[in-house]
Amino acid sequence: TQGPLVLGIETSCDETGVGLVRGTTLLADAIASSVDEHARFGGVVPEVASRAHLEAMVPTIERACETAEVRLDDVDAIAVTSGPGLAGALLVGVAAAKALAIGLGKPIYGVNHLAAHVAVDQLEHGPLPEPCLALLVSGGHSSLLEVADVTVGVQPLGATIDDAAGEAFDKVARLLGLPFPGGPHIDRQAREGQVTIDFPRGLTSRRDLERHRFDFSFSGLKTAVARWVEARQASGEPVPVADVAASFQEAVCDVLVRKALDAAAERGIEDLLIGGGVAANSRLRAMAVERAGARGVRVRVPRPGLCTDNGAMVAALGAELVARGRQPSALDLPADSSMPI
Ligand code: KG4
Ligand code: ZN
Repeated sequence: TQGPLVLGIETSCDETGVGLVRGTTLLADAIASSVDEHARFGGVVPEVASRAHLEAMVPTIERACETAEVRLDDVDAIAVTSGPGLAGALLVGVAAAKALAIGLGKPIYGVNHLAAHVAVDQLEHGPLPEPCLALLVSGGHSSLLEVADVTVGVQPLGATIDDAAGEAFDKVARLLGLPFPGGPHIDRQAREGQVTIDFPRGLTSRRDLERHRFDFSFSGLKTAVARWVEARQASGEPVPVADVAASFQEAVCDVLVRKALDAAAERGIEDLLIGGGVAANSRLRAMAVERAGARGVRVRVPRPGLCTDNGAMVAALGAELVARGRQPSALDLPADSSMPI
């Protein structure tokens, strides 16, 4: 394969990811997760995540090189997530990337985590359609973005005003007694159940749409599920977990797909890319494909392993920055935890 060899580092949340990409070919995607260490807290604990990154960083870099059968000396450029994300977690990745860049005498590219979620799709489906619309839904973000040129940036059209979609999955799973992270468990339960409860669709009333056309809200939905479950328990009846999961999941997917397709229509965009951990959701994938087809929009969803946070996505964007001749970052590049999500 041709093209520069780019090593990408991702540490914005609880995944230590190191990817190696040559051109648009994925050579390695090594990952270490601290998710088990956070499970008993029901959410990611920043201090724990930072420490885990520090311990996992060097072994994960070594693992990526072994898988790709390359030596660090062969790397042409380093890319690293510089934001948004947990400040302390980002710092570990950025510091490691700088050390590599100095040691190897190679350029460093600080990249936006959300743009990387978009760029990763090239590794699977070939050159990105631009412009495209990206729906990024994970435990940390829920955004609708317009992407004219992924190497220049992503333009937010809307985002969640409270919980992220994945966070809603995790919280509802918890109140249904399912383990963390709850998304995959809700997905599995939902397949055994029926959509029997009409839970609210956040920010879809005419008044809300005036101010929050492409924004999302999931905290009201979560509260509605909690109330419903409490009422059931108070009446002494068993909670139909599978039906609640299916009904909750339907409400989340309905709003996500509806707003994404409305945005595509309004912006005249014909390609929708879905990424982030929640893109692994089977109902979201099916619903998006079905409704988009009816409206002349093509849908691209990377395979689940590339949807969740990983190093390959950072390497993919880095390789594209190199390919399009973009300037590298300065060696004093900061981590910016509050880049817009
Ligand atoms: O992208 P990711 O690995 O990490 C960040 O949060 O950035 O996403 C993890 C989130 C969790 O909230 C998890 O519950 C959710 O993605 N998730 C799912 C599914 N698989 C993972 N949510 C719904 N359905 C799934 N199948
Ligand atoms: Zn992410």
